[in-house]
Amino acid sequence: MMDNVIKMAPSESELSKHQQNYAQRVHDSDMIEGWWWDSTEFRPRPDQPVEPSGPAVPHVWNWSTVGPLIHESGEVVGLGQGPGEAERRVLVLRNPGLSPQYAMTNTFFGDVQLIEPGEVAPSHRHTTTAARFVFEGMGGWTSVEGERVDLQPGDIVMNPQWAWHDHGNDGDDNFVFFDVLDIPLLTHLGTAVWDFDYVQVTGDKANKKQPLTRPNNQCMSLFDSSGIVPRFVSSSRTDQSPLLGYRYTTVRSTLDKMRDEKGSPNDGIIVEFNNPESGISIAPTMSMCAQLLRPGEKTLSHRHNWSTIYIAIDGRGSTVVDDTTLEWEKNDIFVVPSWRWHKHSNRSNETDAVLYSVSDLPIIEKIGLRREQQQNESGDIKDTGWTPNCPVWE
Ligand SMILES: [Fe+2]
Ligand SMILES: [Fe+2]
Repeated sequence: MMDNVIKMAPSESELSKHQQNYAQRVHDSDMIEGWWWDSTEFRPRPDQPVEPSGPAVPHVWNWSTVGPLIHESGEVVGLGQGPGEAERRVLVLRNPGLSPQYAMTNTFFGDVQLIEPGEVAPSHRHTTTAARFVFEGMGGWTSVEGERVDLQPGDIVMNPQWAWHDHGNDGDDNFVFFDVLDIPLLTHLGTAVWDFDYVQVTGDKANKKQPLTRPNNQCMSLFDSSGIVPRFVSSSRTDQSPLLGYRYTTVRSTLDKMRDEKGSPNDGIIVEFNNPESGISIAPTMSMCAQLLRPGEKTLSHRHNWSTIYIAIDGRGSTVVDDTTLEWEKNDIFVVPSWRWHKHSNRSNETDAVLYSVSDLPIIEKIGLRREQQQNESGDIKDTGWTPNCPVWE
């Protein structure tokens, strides 16, 4: 009986009067038929894909285009909450496949942000988590919950959920950085909320900076010795990393120490930033990594059901995503959507290439649906399948 229904022709002319009348009554009752018809064979609804799928496309934003536009934004909009001012002066990177959403991937939003010398972006807080990657400026800083982290190009600063934060620039040149936030995910869940009323924390509308209650860069004094953590402090929130900032010099020396290892066949020498107290990902929704592609290194292709935003920090390379080749160099940003075959190569035979990346892997793992396929040199594919606890490959 079901087969007969599914294989019925879909055209209006072939529908009986009863079927047409039935459809009208269903639609008038705020419902829609949960079946799709095809003239020849079974066709699932669009929300029943037989392969992981989504509208996000592979895309690269080249710094040669983005850089001049974000620097110019200081001429067209001020910074603050007054007329002609933006509360954050950002250009949002929009995935062409996800427009009109403000989204780079299914789950993540990204923007580049400018703070000119002497400016302060007023304190605010939000339920979304942010990871920030510094591109330009020697005098930039971010304050999070009473602690200021001084930043230089290549550094990273984290922003936990619902933590007051303001950004400023005490230097002589523009402070430019890239933000990744889990806005699309939290919006979908109905949990994305902002609080712009900075007077709650600064006490005065004229003062946009929160008071500092801890020594500058204290989290790095306490927590950036790999595998060694203090026992005289403890975090009140176990789901958020107490280490807010990472120095590029530390990241590079960590990668360099591993450069003679074989590394991952798909990612070269790759390291994950984690919560130094718990060992889990730096945020409930984000995994953040750095990877070194040695001169001339080419990785093997794999695909997985988490999406990744990459930030090129050093060198130049290319990433082939299905049939699309994304060429990248310093400060370029690119996206590998979920379930797309991808492989990386360092285009130089003399210099290293370094990528940062942020993915939504922790979410996929929390729901027990991590899946990955790897291709070996002969083209054979190894598949984890839909197992809750996937094996970790060497
Ligand atoms: Fe923010
Ligand atoms: Fe990957």
